[in-house]
Amino acid sequence: MECKIGVCQFKPELMQIEKNLAKMESLLESASADLIVLPELAASGYLFNSEEEVQNIAEDPNDGPTATLFKRLAKQHNTSYVIGFAEKAENGIYNSSMLVNPDNSIHIYSKIHLFFEEKKWFKVGDTGFKIFNAKNGVKVGMMICFDWIFPESARSLALAGAQIIAHPTNLVLPWCQQAMLTRSLENGVFAITSNRIGKEKNGNNVLNFTGMSQIVDTKGQIIHRMDKNEESVFVTEIDPLESEDKDITEFNNLFLDRRKELYRS
Ligand code: ACM
Repeated sequence: MECKIGVCQFKPELMQIEKNLAKMESLLESASADLIVLPELAASGYLFNSEEEVQNIAEDPNDGPTATLFKRLAKQHNTSYVIGFAEKAENGIYNSSMLVNPDNSIHIYSKIHLFFEEKKWFKVGDTGFKIFNAKNGVKVGMMICFDWIFPESARSLALAGAQIIAHPTNLVLPWCQQAMLTRSLENGVFAITSNRIGKEKNGNNVLNFTGMSQIVDTKGQIIHRMDKNEESVFVTEIDPLESEDKDITEFNNLFLDRRKELYRS
């Protein structure tokens, strides 16, 4: 089974939703793929200083600016997209991602492990780690940025049947990209980590994002890693069915050798 998967890296501008969406549309214009992953909070930027700022950039998951653009792009390019956004829900605002498919379906994941001051602005996600069909029935599981440091996130997605982990990020710590090689290897899944680049400043607060977006195969090998500063889209062809093989040797299987009775929860 052939599947073209891609990763998009760029520098969003803080609270410039229309400008950021236009930039993504232009970056994606010539990319031919079945599935492309974009960064966390891709349309809004990341570094907020007040609840009011977060209220102003929060979007409806079905007909906000991000959903509206990506529904159109999904149909136009016949591509599934995973993109991070600030989700306006009835009971508050979540740091979420959406999988948008060419058939107009949208699936949402809300970030379960919030990082640092995100805890001031967002409600903690309670959607759980679920698997959704992307184009051609490819099984995609979503996690967002800091979820990486809890091995249970990727493990839960793999146990639920993920072939590909779609991982929008806004990374500021230096460890995630290397750690994701292990997450892929220990779970036998592909992982697409899309990070943003650049410096973001809001008042006296400044963050530097680390780029190095990457696609990793089921053996933990890097298919492609971007540099720290480029704005681009990379697409490669994989076989998602490789993720069904959890054997490590003829005597060892990633799932069947687990000793759940000896683990602590
Ligand atoms: C992060 O979770 N955005 C570091």
